Amino acid sequence: MTPSPRTPCIHPSILSADFANLERELSRISTADAVHVDVMDNHFVPNLTLGLPVVESLRAATDLPLDIHLMIEDADVWAPRYAELGCESVTFHAEAAQAPIRLARELRARHSSAAMALKPATGIESYLDMLGELDMLLLMTVEPGFGGQSFLDLVLPKIRRARKAVDDLGGEIAVQIDGGVNAETILRAADAGADTFVAGSAVYAAEDPDAAIAGLRGLLEH
Ligand code: DX5
Ligand code: ZN
Repeated sequence: MTPSPRTPCIHPSILSADFANLERELSRISTADAVHVDVMDNHFVPNLTLGLPVVESLRAATDLPLDIHLMIEDADVWAPRYAELGCESVTFHAEAAQAPIRLARELRARHSSAAMALKPATGIESYLDMLGELDMLLLMTVEPGFGGQSFLDLVLPKIRRARKAVDDLGGEIAVQIDGGVNAETILRAADAGADTFVAGSAVYAAEDPDAAIAGLRGLLEH
């Protein structure tokens, strides 16, 4: 077991929320550490969600930190625009970035945390030397594109490798996982070294999303 030294964070994904009532849906996750916002363009992934105008409205509607997960092509062009809206963290996919080091630096220059995501089948090895450019590494535990999929246990060894690499650098970089996180899977990911947990359906399918957040946190405390 290689638990992270960081305090675990729960980031509910509003992909599973009611898009016609986003302000109300934000109020149901008032105890979240951040709001995870999935931006999809129907090119990088076969699904389409929301973009800059909606994120701008979310920014105005909440004081919770915004964790933007870009599942889009042309990340180099668009990611800095989300940082300019005042989002606390912007995640681009390694598979979609032409120049990930330059892009990470552009995000930090715009006062956003810089985060990079890897799809389940993307290896971490070729990115190890640039980890110091990042504030967070997102390891997808489902193929990106849709909520409600099953957690892929095959990602657990990569989480362990990421944990070790991050610890070797001093442990400041968050290790986030996204996809299939629920009461049954979260401890496996935490034991492998994840410290930041995105949960969509596990939070919003609950009658009381704030209680679901507390339930996930409670599991991590034991
Ligand atoms: C999927 C998204 C996830 C999604 C997770 O591509 O990146 O953030 O909302 O949903 P669950 O927690 O239901 O797997
Ligand atoms: Zn996501």
